[in-house]
Amino acid sequence: MIDNKEIQEILAKYDSDRLTIGTLGSHSALNILKGAQEEGFKTVCVCRKADAILYRRFGVADELVLVRDFADISSESIQEKLRHLNTILVPHGSFTAYLSMKQMADLLRVPMFGNRELLNWETSREKQREWLSKAELRLPRTFEKPEEIHGLTIAKLPGAKGGKGYFLSDSPESFHRKVKEMVGRKLLNQVDIGRIHLQEYILGVNVYPHYFSSIVNDDVEFFGVDRRYESAVDAIGKIPASEQLRAITNPTYTIVGNIPITLRESLLPELIRMGDSVVNASKDIVSAGIIGPFCLEMVITDNLEIYVFEISARIVAGTNVGIGTSPYAYLKHGNRMYMGRRIAVEIREARKRKQLPKIIT
Ligand SMILES: Nc1ncnc2c1ncn2[C@@H]1O[C@H](COP(=O)(O)OP(=O)(O)OP(=O)(O)O)[C@@H](O)[C@H]1O
Ligand SMILES: [Mg+2]
Repeated sequence: MIDNKEIQEILAKYDSDRLTIGTLGSHSALNILKGAQEEGFKTVCVCRKADAILYRRFGVADELVLVRDFADISSESIQEKLRHLNTILVPHGSFTAYLSMKQMADLLRVPMFGNRELLNWETSREKQREWLSKAELRLPRTFEKPEEIHGLTIAKLPGAKGGKGYFLSDSPESFHRKVKEMVGRKLLNQVDIGRIHLQEYILGVNVYPHYFSSIVNDDVEFFGVDRRYESAVDAIGKIPASEQLRAITNPTYTIVGNIPITLRESLLPELIRMGDSVVNASKDIVSAGIIGPFCLEMVITDNLEIYVFEISARIVAGTNVGIGTSPYAYLKHGNRMYMGRRIAVEIREARKRKQLPKIIT
């Protein structure tokens, strides 16, 4: 792990009047780069050649650095270039998806907005559970072994992004039958069987609230909410049940987009308290705690019980629904506030108050 002192020394050498805000070209880059430009920062986008068209067309990147692979961002020459531009990187989902923890923690010597150490926590289900339990949130029950299964249970494969290969069962027998079937269809191998995570399936609707933990203002802002539009789960209802039985054994959750939602107002006090507890708990697990955006993944049942099954300690793509403005961002900030811009405002304010070291790791 790069010593934070080292990052702070790099930051100290930066010309703070000429900061550039940078990120990888995917996920929420439009959001981040546009927000940075609106707050008067220069921007740099490290992107793949095929995707450059997007950032060019929207004109959000003052500088494009083309790479073959996102992981190339940790190469010495690109890091050197970024530091030369006085870049503060804003991490998003593609950082955690395409860079190894080693690259993020041991190699990337470019100052980052947010808490680098916490990104590590989102790569492990156990760590996430530990954090969310510390925050005293309601979590789905987990089962240590298939024999304990009772009631509808979701089986999650290790490292499967987007819920690929996840399946439901409601008894040890139906679990073993499904495993056998999946092994037969080569959707599952012997090694992964032992690493399946079994979790109580919560029947309800998924919502994804976004928060912003401001260090400068010592405040946790409730920023917006989205739901995901996922193929194939969101498509199943289009075909009759008899065809569903034959055509679909395990629905997948490949994300295609996000849909903005507003919530029943009576749910909001609890959601605000939950955001506060997550931030408080984060201070117990790593010093400084959460800096900036985070998101809870939850299911809300018909008696309005809220179950949290994941946390992201960084900007999520769901905040893209608020580019321009969104109801909750409007309530707090007035017009034209959104997550990418909020990040830039925090950096600008921290610079003004000479608090940049507090929000950079
Ligand atoms: N305990 C649960 N009860 C009900 N539905 C669940 C539960 N856990 C997960 N899901 C559903 O499965 C989907 C994928 O689960 P999860 O978020 O854990 O996977 P993932 O691999 O982390 O996906 P991603 O990286 O896209 O968030 C969720 O979006 C949700 O719709
Ligand atoms: Mg998830």
